[in-house]
Amino acid sequence: MSVSIQDCAQARAGFPRPVPDTPSNALEQLRMTGKVVVVTGAADGIGLAVTEAMAEAGAHVVLWYNSNKAAIEKSQDLAKKHNVKSAAHQVDVSDSTQVSGTIAKVVQEFGKIDAFVANAGMAISRPILEQTLPEYQKQMSVNVDGIVYCAKYVGEVFQRQGFGNLIITSSMSGHVVNVPVDQPVYNATKAYVTHFGKSLAREWREFARVNIVSPGFFDTKMGASPLCINEAYRMSSLGRQGHVKEIKGLYLYLASDASTYMTGSDVIIDGGYTLP
Ligand SMILES: NC(=O)c1ccc[n+]([C@@H]2O[C@H](COP(=O)([O-])OP(=O)(O)OC[C@H]3O[C@@H](n4cnc5c(N)ncnc54)[C@H](OP(=O)(O)O)[C@@H]3O)[C@@H](O)[C@H]2O)c1
Repeated sequence: MSVSIQDCAQARAGFPRPVPDTPSNALEQLRMTGKVVVVTGAADGIGLAVTEAMAEAGAHVVLWYNSNKAAIEKSQDLAKKHNVKSAAHQVDVSDSTQVSGTIAKVVQEFGKIDAFVANAGMAISRPILEQTLPEYQKQMSVNVDGIVYCAKYVGEVFQRQGFGNLIITSSMSGHVVNVPVDQPVYNATKAYVTHFGKSLAREWREFARVNIVSPGFFDTKMGASPLCINEAYRMSSLGRQGHVKEIKGLYLYLASDASTYMTGSDVIIDGGYTLP
């Protein structure tokens, strides 16, 4: 049963909570100097752009990659160019032991984790009647288990530290059944992580913020395939895919002190694809 209006009127000890002591200048709020940010799927695409954004704003960056060793060189380039510390770690996010072990290694190397961008993902886009069970299980293991493992183990760090910030890359496919490719399993993995992230925002309310980014089509390896590119242009109000430079500012905002009143939000960035 819901509480009465009289019950609600009772003041609770400790409320309202204090406003965080952050700069009032918006550009200062976006500064990440001294912060440590981990990004998964950081070798290329959205993850690399996000990692660049963090380093450009002064953060120390830790690039997690799975198979693309370009992350090692990118890590060194970013450190040199922006005068920050960086590291690259090979981690299969669907392996909980690798995830927990590497999070411990990062804390040992960098002393803390301020923000963790759980961005790695994959798709085997097929109708369920044509999808094999191993293909289903693979997508679940990376897109769902991978996010859960990262959240669970970095959440322990955040709780211990008393601060932290988790950003999950979901998809507009968690909101709409995008066309023309039938990919129910991929879509459902993204719906899972969106709701999981919102649920964590409440669970972790005493020590960390959690937000979700839901991109539409971006021009990366996981962007629109040649067969569906024209439909992607038609469906998007802006008539094109996004360029990864157009998503950097959103992740920086969410990772920084510019967004201290934001938790449990799911930001769609899709050029208007989901409007109709
Ligand atoms: N591009 C789009 O249109 C679009 C739209 C909506 C959502 N997204 C989401 O955005 C995220 C980034 O994708 P992207 O577009 O930037 O494509 P991408 O360049 O192919 O990035 C996907 C990343 O996931 C990593 N990954 C895959 N399996 C992994 C595993 N088992 N363990 C660890 N990392 C793994 C890959 O690492 P390696 O290359 O090192 O193997 C790769 O860096 C994904 O979650 C995707 O679902 C993309």
